[in-house]
Amino acid sequence: MAKIKRIGVLTSGGDAPGMNAAIRAVTRTAIYNGLEVIGIRHGYLGMINANFKPLKAHNVSDTIQRGGTILKTARCEEFKTVEGRRMAYENLRAAEIDGVIVIGGDGSFTGARIFDEEYNIPFVGVPGTIDNDIYGTDYTIGYDTALNTVVQCVDKIRDTASAHNRMFFVEVMGAEAGHIALFSGIATGAEAIIMPEIKGEGRDLKKMIENGNKRKKSSNIIIVAEGDEEGGAMAIAERLKPEFTDYDIRVSILGHLQRGGSPSALDRVNASRLGNAAVEALLDDQKSVMVGLQNDVVVLVPFRKAVKLHKGLNQHLIDLIDVLNV
Ligand code: F6P
Repeated sequence: MAKIKRIGVLTSGGDAPGMNAAIRAVTRTAIYNGLEVIGIRHGYLGMINANFKPLKAHNVSDTIQRGGTILKTARCEEFKTVEGRRMAYENLRAAEIDGVIVIGGDGSFTGARIFDEEYNIPFVGVPGTIDNDIYGTDYTIGYDTALNTVVQCVDKIRDTASAHNRMFFVEVMGAEAGHIALFSGIATGAEAIIMPEIKGEGRDLKKMIENGNKRKKSSNIIIVAEGDEEGGAMAIAERLKPEFTDYDIRVSILGHLQRGGSPSALDRVNASRLGNAAVEALLDDQKSVMVGLQNDVVVLVPFRKAVKLHKGLNQHLIDLIDVLNV
C-alpha cells in the first residue's frame, strides 16, 4: 500500500457525546506522526460535496468537553448509491486523501465496507453511537454519557412518581437494542424493563409490580427501549392500562436529550484511545476494520463482522432484574 500522507476524518449517523474527543485524538495522533488531516463535514455527504476543511492541532483545542460534533454529521442516502460513492472517490482523490477514519455506528461502517471493496482507499472505523450496539466492542463512544443522562432523568421522575403514587413508562433510545434500557433500568431500580431482545408484551410486568407493592413501593417505573417490537412507551402504556386500573399512569419520552451534553470522563478517555488507535491502524496498512475495546484492550474487528453480527445483552444483568425485584 502507498505510504499514507494525508487522512480524512468524518462523523456519521447519530451524533454521540465524545465524538469531538475522538476527532481531536485522530487529528493530534496524525500530526504527531507527520500526517496531514482533512476534516470532512456532514459525514459522507461532505465526501460527495467535497466539503473539506484542513484540521491543525489548534482546530481541535477546547473541544474535548463538548457534545455534538464539530464536523457535523448526517445520515446520507446518496452514499448508498454507486454514483454517490463514485463522486466521493473522485473528491478524495482530488484532495489527495490516502485514508479515511469514520466515527459512527454500524450503518456508517456498512457504507465504509462497500466503498473499501470498490475503491483503493482504506477506511478505518471508530464506534460512535449512544446505543452501544456494535458487535466486536464492549463499548461505543457516547454510551456512558447517555446512560448517565438517562439515570439522572429517571431519578427525577422517581421523585415526582413517588409523590403522587404514580406508574411511569419511561422511553429511552435504542432503535434496535436494549443496552441503554437494561443498564439504566438496573441503575435506577426500575420495577420492569421492556427491551426488544426479550419478547412478549408485558413480560412479567404484573408480577414485578406486585413484588414492588409487597415492598411497599409508592411508585412504579417501567423503562421501555424505543425499539421494542410492541411499540414505544406510549403504545405499550395504552395497551396495558386496562390491566392496571388501580394506577395513575404517565408516560415520559426522554428523546434526543440523551444524545447531548458534555461527555463523561470515560467517554473522553475511550474516545481518545480509539481515535489514536484508528490512525495507528491506517499507518499499519489496515483497512475495512473498526477499532474496538474488549476487556479494556484495543482490538481490530473487520467491518464485515461488526456490521453483520448482533451484540447481545449481558445475560447476567438480565437475570439480575428478577433477583433485585424479589
Ligand atoms: O443510533 C443512535 C440513535 O440515537 C438511536 O438510539 C435512535 O433511534 C436514533 O439514533 C434517532 O435518530 P435521529 O436523530 O436521526 O432521529
